[in-house]
Amino acid sequence: MNIDEYKPQRYAEQEVCYALKHNKHLLLVGETGSGKTASVMRVARALDWPCARLNMDGGLVREDLIGRFTLRAGQNGETVSVFEEGLLLRALREGHILILDEVNAAAPELLFLFQNLLEEGGQFVLSDTGERITPHERFRIFGTMNPPISDSGTVYAGVRELSPAFKNRWDRIIYVGYPSQAAELEILKGRYGADAVFTPQHLATMQQVCAFAAKWRALYKAGMATTPFTIRDTIRMFEDICQPVSTFAKAIEGCFINRLTAEELATPSIKQLCAQLKEGVNVV
Ligand SMILES: Nc1ncnc2c1ncn2[C@@H]1O[C@H](COP(=O)(O)OP(=O)(O)OP(=O)(O)O)[C@@H](O)[C@H]1O
Ligand SMILES: [Mg+2]
Repeated sequence: MNIDEYKPQRYAEQEVCYALKHNKHLLLVGETGSGKTASVMRVARALDWPCARLNMDGGLVREDLIGRFTLRAGQNGETVSVFEEGLLLRALREGHILILDEVNAAAPELLFLFQNLLEEGGQFVLSDTGERITPHERFRIFGTMNPPISDSGTVYAGVRELSPAFKNRWDRIIYVGYPSQAAELEILKGRYGADAVFTPQHLATMQQVCAFAAKWRALYKAGMATTPFTIRDTIRMFEDICQPVSTFAKAIEGCFINRLTAEELATPSIKQLCAQLKEGVNVV
């Protein structure tokens, strides 16, 4: 599909399209499960634009990005050493989208690799050989991250503030919030493809889950709850309720209530809400 034909489902996707079209570097910041990574991946898939997602947290090392020598069997049975390009080099040469996922969980020295690239007309210099690589015209970089502390006070362990120099190189930084109730319903329906047929029961369940998500997020935003209700939770709950042996009360207990903190569970208003939910009282 051509980029001008793509109808963005939400604001984040609109920004992704803009960045792709005008070659801008976009950093998406937001709470867990708000749809940052999915926004980039959905647009990439629709446009058939090759996309590599790098999990910057944990074990990613320079060799994964640049490449490494590996030993292979040669034509005459001898052992030969071959350079296997890493994800970054391939993306640069072949024009892929690169998602630096959870970018603020990366080792800071790894981020230096991207500093030049994020500048206008940025090139990549291979320090081993001095080779200068000019990115393919379809090469794009996106970043995603959770804020170290969200507006609602949730602390994301293991992530840090980006250095001002790195942060400054992104052309645009957007905040991706949780979708509204109506938008989330569309996301949920859209997940099962354009040809999906839903029974009235499915639709009623979807409405109920999205209404509960909106209700919980209002508590969260007001600082009364500290566990976010993510798009992941919405999907999980809907699919759980659809199981033949399940009910709304059972699904919400297993998928959500048991995830709450001890402090939340001890808060009288939340305690009462959970008790009602477990009894199957319709609270939305
Ligand atoms: N527009 C959408 N259509 C279908 N599914 C979606 C959409 N947006 C998000 N999802 C689904 O919701 C879940 C959470 O989305 P995603 O992983 O993109 O969140 P995130 O903001 O990147 O979270 P994290 O900060 O934890 O990485 C995923 O299972 C994803 O597939
Ligand atoms: Mg993500």
